Amino acid sequence: MNRRYRKTIIAGNWKMNNTLSETRSFAEQLKPIMPRGKWCTVVLCVPATNIQSAVRLFKDCHIAVGAETCHYEQKGAYTGEITPAMIKEAGAKYVIIGHSERRQYYNETDFTVNKKVHAAVEAGLIPIICVGESLEQREMGVTMELIAYQVKCALAGLAPEKVRHVVIAYEPLWAIGTGRTATAGQAGEVCQAIRTVIRKQYGAHVARSVTIQYGGSMNAKNAAELLAQPDVDGGLIGGASLKAVEFVQIINAANQE
Ligand code: 13P
Repeated sequence: MNRRYRKTIIAGNWKMNNTLSETRSFAEQLKPIMPRGKWCTVVLCVPATNIQSAVRLFKDCHIAVGAETCHYEQKGAYTGEITPAMIKEAGAKYVIIGHSERRQYYNETDFTVNKKVHAAVEAGLIPIICVGESLEQREMGVTMELIAYQVKCALAGLAPEKVRHVVIAYEPLWAIGTGRTATAGQAGEVCQAIRTVIRKQYGAHVARSVTIQYGGSMNAKNAAELLAQPDVDGGLIGGASLKAVEFVQIINAANQE
């Protein structure tokens, strides 16, 4: 982390978990133990049906809310989809784009990721853009090329002053939901490479402002070590963000670094 130049962001990705009543009880558990200091920014990305309530429930403890995906069109005949403007009006500030589960199960491509990033930024949302390699790709030695390609595609056509405010999450597919975390060295190396890609495209000033998170089995035990890497500016946390106590332990680890 480097607090001087950029925000540290601990974000939960609830995926398809927690009904409205479960969200309420999570908030009840979280509120009394949530740290008061505001070193790091805390975000919870929740199912669309929970956004409005979550905004209300987590306001007191300064937790921002995000959506988990969005469409790139502003309106139209896309049954089941929601637009960045809808998300924004519901009170969310962030939206996850290009999560590997969306890429894998819903045909999200680098091309649609780019369109969604543009749509989100235009609506005033901060995109959390996910990139990451599969185990096969890592073993073939193409991780850095692939990540560079994904980052370049996601940001293509975006003005440098907009790029400064996006969040990138490095999530190796083999670490998601597997309990197998990237080592701090592996996470740090790829996050550093992402910053180098941004520096080459948009300059040093932009590159040092971008928050780059690590995601993939981050938990209370390994968070501090991962966050100690200079280019790891936070975490995108799945399973461990569903448990209020553990989520707070991760926030505390980020506050202590
Ligand atoms: P886990 O923390 O459950 O591995 O999930 C990571 C993730 O996909 C966050 O977006």
